[in-house]
Order: sequence, then C-alpha cells, then structure tokens
Amino acid sequence: MPALIITTVTPTVPPKAPHVVGSKTKKATRPTAEIPQFLIDEAQQTQPVAWDPEKHLCFQPPAKIHTMSDIGLEGHEISTTAVSDPFPLFSKEAMVQMRREIFSGPVLEHCRYSSSFNANMVRGMGQERAPFTYNAWWDPETLAKISQVASIELVPAFDFEVANINISINDHDAETAATEAEKTSSVAWHYDSFPFVCVTMASDCTGMVGGETATKLPSGEIRKVRGPQMGTAVVMQGRYIYQQALKTFGGRERISMVTAFRPKSPFVRDETILTGSRAISNLDELYSQYTEYRLEVLEERFLAKLKEERRRVVMRCPYNLADIRSFLAEQKEYIESMLEQLFEVEQIRYLMCGVCKS
Ligand SMILES: [Fe+2]
Repeated sequence: MPALIITTVTPTVPPKAPHVVGSKTKKATRPTAEIPQFLIDEAQQTQPVAWDPEKHLCFQPPAKIHTMSDIGLEGHEISTTAVSDPFPLFSKEAMVQMRREIFSGPVLEHCRYSSSFNANMVRGMGQERAPFTYNAWWDPETLAKISQVASIELVPAFDFEVANINISINDHDAETAATEAEKTSSVAWHYDSFPFVCVTMASDCTGMVGGETATKLPSGEIRKVRGPQMGTAVVMQGRYIYQQALKTFGGRERISMVTAFRPKSPFVRDETILTGSRAISNLDELYSQYTEYRLEVLEERFLAKLKEERRRVVMRCPYNLADIRSFLAEQKEYIESMLEQLFEVEQIRYLMCGVCKS
C-alpha cells in the first residue's frame, strides 16, 4: 500500500499584489466633454478594411526590456519583464483603421466613459462595433509578439478590455482651471488591475511633448517611456508597477490604447481584479466575461489535478497531502478573490442613457 506522506514543506508565497485604488466615481458615467468634431470627421474619411496581420502588424522587438529585478520589484512578478522600451507594433494604416472605429457613431454613443482618473475614455467596443481593433488584438500573431516582449504567453484579459482608449485633448482654455498636478497628469498615479498591459500610441506625435507613461520605482526614481510615433507600443507588468500617464503639450491630442492581458496558462498566478474597471464598464458585460474566464481557469485547474491524482493512484505513488492542501488553498484564494470582486453596485446595472443623459 502506498504510504500517506505528510510533509511540512512551506510553499514560497509571493508577496500580495499592490492594493488598487478605484475611481471616485462609483458608477459608469458618460464624459461631459464632447469629442471634437474634427477628430470624428477625420476618422470617418477612412475607408474600412479588414485586419490583415501581413499588412498591419509591423513588429520590431524593443531595444531594451527592463526586468523586474532591474527595477527592484523581484518577487511579485509572473515573468521577468517589467517594462519594455517602445517598439513598433501596428502600422500607421492599422492605427487609422482603429481610429475610424473609435470615433464611429455606435462607439461614441455606447462606449464612452469618464472617471476621476481619466475624464475621457472609450471602452468595451466589442467585435461588432470595432471588428478591426478586436481582430487585431486577438490575432495569434499579435499575441505571439506581445508575449515575446512580456516573456510569458498572454491573452487579452477578456473582451471588454479590448481595448481601453484614453483620450486627452489639448484644451488651452482649460489650463487656467487645472491644478499643477492636473497639468502634468493625464491619468493619475495608479497600479493596474491586470497583470500586463500594452499601451499603444494612437496619436500622431508630431510636435508632441510629454504624453509618456511614467513609472515610479521603489527607489523613488521616476522613469518615463512613450511610443515615439503612432502604432508604437510599450508592454508593462502593470499590476505591480506604480504608474501614471503624463499630459501632452504641443501636440493636438494624446490618444492611447491600453489593452489588458492575463496569462494564457490557467496554471500561472493571476491577480486580476476589477477595481479599476468596475466604475467604467457595462457591469453586465464585465461581470459576465470575468466570471466566464475565471470559471474556465478553475475548470482546467481541477481537471488537470484530477487527472494527476488518478494517474498517481494507477502508478501507486504515495498520496501527497501537502500538495493537495496547497492546491486547494490556492483555489480557495482564487474563488475568494472572485467573491471580493463580484458585488452589486447600487444603481449601476445600466448605463446612463447616451441620448437623454438621464
Ligand atoms: Fe495603467
């Protein structure tokens, strides 16, 4: 008979992921500022074409990938990559197609959001309203390139996070009302709610000063990176890195596209939370997509463990109590995290009406 093994091995537990502060706005809110008509007119001049990785992907590896240990954050990571230098990802033609979708009627009517972090966002466009953008981010070739830079195989967190577009228009009239902090920050300091993000520049950077993504290192040092032109991207392990988007000066606008990623493998630690998304999403879609992927992860983990356990019995290997307890504790923590994320938020089940603003 196989013996019962009782070991006292203590698994190395990584430090807890940083606490994420949510927006002061608790319910999905439409921005008050109108999108300038020239952006809409310009975008609508583009004739739609289908996503084609041969034509639209123009990836070149970043010159440097800064590692988590480089910036003093080892221990948290799910991969070695902390933040990459900017690298070409999409062609200008691809970005123009994405802008056509971002500034299209159905998207502007249904997908605009505002929060205390970012006054003007477009999110959750979906495949139907934005097929080019959706297909670009879900293309296996795109994912292979992003994963190469991230040093881990990634997939978009879920459809609603394909993609978050931050829109900042240079409005000189508003400058007098801005505080010093607001003058320099386009998006306030924060940790992301997702393991990785890819921030893609969707603006023409001619004459643009600023507009970088700034990261704060444990030493207090602040590093700034920015795609130097439309279609360049930065990949960052944003769940563990304190960051902010800086305001632009000189350029006409700063439009950046942030797509959130999680590990493709269900067996990798995933500290995705919804804090950053809850107040800027259609909750019916957000909760549903989050639940589906988490249940899929649990299904795969339990199936794999079950197979492993059956195999162990056939092979007459001893029962490993410590291993099973560690597996169950990990799944319990995963489910507890889901319980923390999924709750009723008063009166935000349905968005403010895009027509009457009520
Ligand atoms: Fe971020």
